Amino acid sequence: MSKQNRKAPPYSMLATIYDEVMAHVDYEKWTNYIVSLFEKYDKKPQSILELSCGTGNVLLSLTSKKYNIFGLDLSFEMVRIAYEKAITRNININYFQADMTCFSLKRPVDVVICLYDSINYLDDFSKWQQLFDNVYDALVEQGLFIFDICTEKNSMKYFSNYTETGSGSSFEYLRESSYDRKQKIHQNQFTIKFDGDDNRYIESHQQRIYTINEIQNFISQSHFQCLDAFNGFSFRKADEEALRVHFVLEKASLND
Ligand SMILES: C[S@@+](CC[C@H](N)C(=O)[O-])C[C@H]1O[C@@H](n2cnc3c(N)ncnc32)[C@H](O)[C@@H]1O
Repeated sequence: MSKQNRKAPPYSMLATIYDEVMAHVDYEKWTNYIVSLFEKYDKKPQSILELSCGTGNVLLSLTSKKYNIFGLDLSFEMVRIAYEKAITRNININYFQADMTCFSLKRPVDVVICLYDSINYLDDFSKWQQLFDNVYDALVEQGLFIFDICTEKNSMKYFSNYTETGSGSSFEYLRESSYDRKQKIHQNQFTIKFDGDDNRYIESHQQRIYTINEIQNFISQSHFQCLDAFNGFSFRKADEEALRVHFVLEKASLND
């Protein structure tokens, strides 16, 4: 590796350019879909926790709806940016840095969300188990746990041997993606170069791809009831043709 190439942890350097790289994402649409799920299941949450909240884009648009909001993310840099955005806009959101497989709250919340295939960063079901145990403790009785996954179809269609270059206000980046169908691992490597800095920062991200069936089997053994699994942003029953699937779970009481 040349002197100018520096390995960086996931979402450390990417954090500072994340919002520009993701400028195409319609976070308002994500938020509206989540709120429509509350309505569909007749829930009127007052408190929401977002796991893997990133730079807080969904939470910022949820604040217009007057919830008590919490966000956590593994990346300190992502949380720092989310926090600064909230402070600049004079919005009260409680952020903290934590691993979604190992966190606890002082008081349970009504809804936990985990979006934009963040859960695919957990590479086996033992980590899902830790996540589910934590979410169970973090939720009130009959609280909702909503998460999405990206599917194999998505990895095959868009990210097998995919390359993208881009630039923003003071940086350029290269994204190289591949999908190992045998290992079910989707890899994204970001090479980032900032103006005025000779270094190139390289982040390697790995996501595990799961089938809908695998996930439903896992949920059936958990203390959650799967209310529905929908093809992304719809109320249609999920299938492997979907690029993204939203799961809606309800915390079951331990006596159920
Ligand atoms: C694709 S980004 C999505 C961020 C945000 N949800 C959004 O919609 O923009 C994935 C996020 O998952 C976070 N993440 C990955 N593994 C995590 C873990 N074990 N615990 C908490 N956050 C994690 C990353 O730091 C990153 O911010």
